[in-house]
Amino acid sequence: MRSLIDILDLSPSELDELMDTAVEIERHPEKFRAACAGKKIATLFFEPSTRTRMSFEAAMFELGGNVLSMSEASSSTAKGESVADTAKVISCYADIIAIRHPKEGAALVAAKNARVPVINAGDGGHCHPTQTLADLLTIRREKGRFEFLTVGLCGDLKYGRTVHSLIGALSRFEGIRFVLISPRELSLPEYVKTEVIEKNGLSFSEVSSLEEALPELDLLYMTRIQRERFEAPAEYERLKDSYILTPEKLALAREDCCVLHPLPRVNEISVAVDNDPRACYFKQVQNGKLMRMALILKLLKEAEKPERENSRGEFLLEGKRCKNPRCILHTEQELPALLKKTAGGVCRCIWCESAVE
Ligand code: NCD
Repeated sequence: MRSLIDILDLSPSELDELMDTAVEIERHPEKFRAACAGKKIATLFFEPSTRTRMSFEAAMFELGGNVLSMSEASSSTAKGESVADTAKVISCYADIIAIRHPKEGAALVAAKNARVPVINAGDGGHCHPTQTLADLLTIRREKGRFEFLTVGLCGDLKYGRTVHSLIGALSRFEGIRFVLISPRELSLPEYVKTEVIEKNGLSFSEVSSLEEALPELDLLYMTRIQRERFEAPAEYERLKDSYILTPEKLALAREDCCVLHPLPRVNEISVAVDNDPRACYFKQVQNGKLMRMALILKLLKEAEKPERENSRGEFLLEGKRCKNPRCILHTEQELPALLKKTAGGVCRCIWCESAVE
């Protein structure tokens, strides 16, 4: 069953195809009004969400389908049900599932157990591929290309799952240069640097000053410091206002720089920036709904085809247990501690991708 767990599950040509469909939907919504008639999406959100959840729901309504919605407080998860069992059960009610969960690897567990396509709507600090779909359409519309861009990513690069997925997607294009702007404590995980950016022959620099980086950027991707992922609240308090983009700082940026943010914004972009033509974060929201419509259409269409082998092509081995406290391995009933060996010889947990010694 074709699911979307990691943005790399989609090839560059499939991404193009999704963006073309999204634009077509916006131009001719009437053509799509009954495209999912009789179909249901289940939105399973075990973490707070406004945009992602409502945009999946609005997307399905606009395709003529229906929505089954569940949030943590009212679900059997509160009674201790596993993600695997939840996925098996919901497969009896819905044609497609969008799941958000605080544990890294939870969406993959759901996909391995569901009988319908599963969409990862954010798993802990790991991935958030559908936000990347919104980001990509916005970049295509604003910059007209994905190649030869200098991309600044600013804020919480450690826990910011949208950053990890966006870097994955952009790393497949030629001439991308990443400028990683964060406090040292919130720098990008090692595996994203070595196994995503460097593996694709791209370069990156790490700086702590936003002002220093701004003049050279084609894109600035601001992020929220992810309070809910910190183990020590005092550490969050210390780092929370590390970066605030103001009109004065934005004056240092190029005329055609495009400012993105997955939202919600807490304090990291001042409201006065919203009127600047370079501020594109509310356009991202509209693009996100269109891309989710295109994705739902694609996955439902593929679900009608005969089952094909999972194409992840990973060589799996059983071994030591992953020590990432946010990994689904530690909470899910009887989940095997599977590892994959990367090209660089590092063993990684298949669920959350943390290195396992
Ligand atoms: C992001 C997320 O959930 O990771 N929000 C979203 O889906 N647009 C970003 C965030 O919460 O900071």
